[in-house]
Amino acid sequence: MLQSAEDLRAALPRVGPQLPNIPPSPRLLALVGEAPGRDEVIAGKPFVGRSGQLLDSHLRAAGIERAGCLVANVFRFQPPDNKVGHFFASRAKARRLGLDLAEALGRFGGSDYCLAIFADEIDALSQILAEWRPAAIVALGRTPLWALTGQGGILECRGKVQACRLLPGVPVVPTYHPSYLLRGNRAAEPNFQADLVLAASLANGSP
Ligand code: URA
Repeated sequence: MLQSAEDLRAALPRVGPQLPNIPPSPRLLALVGEAPGRDEVIAGKPFVGRSGQLLDSHLRAAGIERAGCLVANVFRFQPPDNKVGHFFASRAKARRLGLDLAEALGRFGGSDYCLAIFADEIDALSQILAEWRPAAIVALGRTPLWALTGQGGILECRGKVQACRLLPGVPVVPTYHPSYLLRGNRAAEPNFQADLVLAASLANGSP
């Protein structure tokens, strides 16, 4: 029987990052998404479902070889109903549920904070980034934008290079999550493509 928040977390399916198929490189590009979904849990690999297929087609068009990239998610756990909002709560909701918040990580959206039981997911992301030291990082949507930079406002930030708070000195290129494009926003695909090209050029040492 599940008794605590820790039990609930332990019961969630988990998918780790896709590591690059090349030795550590000073030109490494990292792609960071939100959390795995059902398809990713089945495959044991991030971004293999519909979002992943759309991402792959844009990576190919941008001349980026996915296998040479680090592909990770902010949360390795598949959230209930695929809704990452389950990993965050307002102060009032956390009090009601008797859960602690990781307020030091900063606000996510209007008034929510990451639940403390998931805060070590950010540490794990930090560690993998420190290990592989990518030259540039693509934040795919608002969750990685928050985790990597502490900021919100993905639609305002997209395409504008931000500083990474987890790996100082490394540029973060925020862009849409592919699922946003799939949800009736296909007109934004040229911007998405341009953001990938920008990130690849930063990783290659071009301004
Ligand atoms: N969406 C994500 O954010 N990550 C995945 O791995 C799959 C879908």
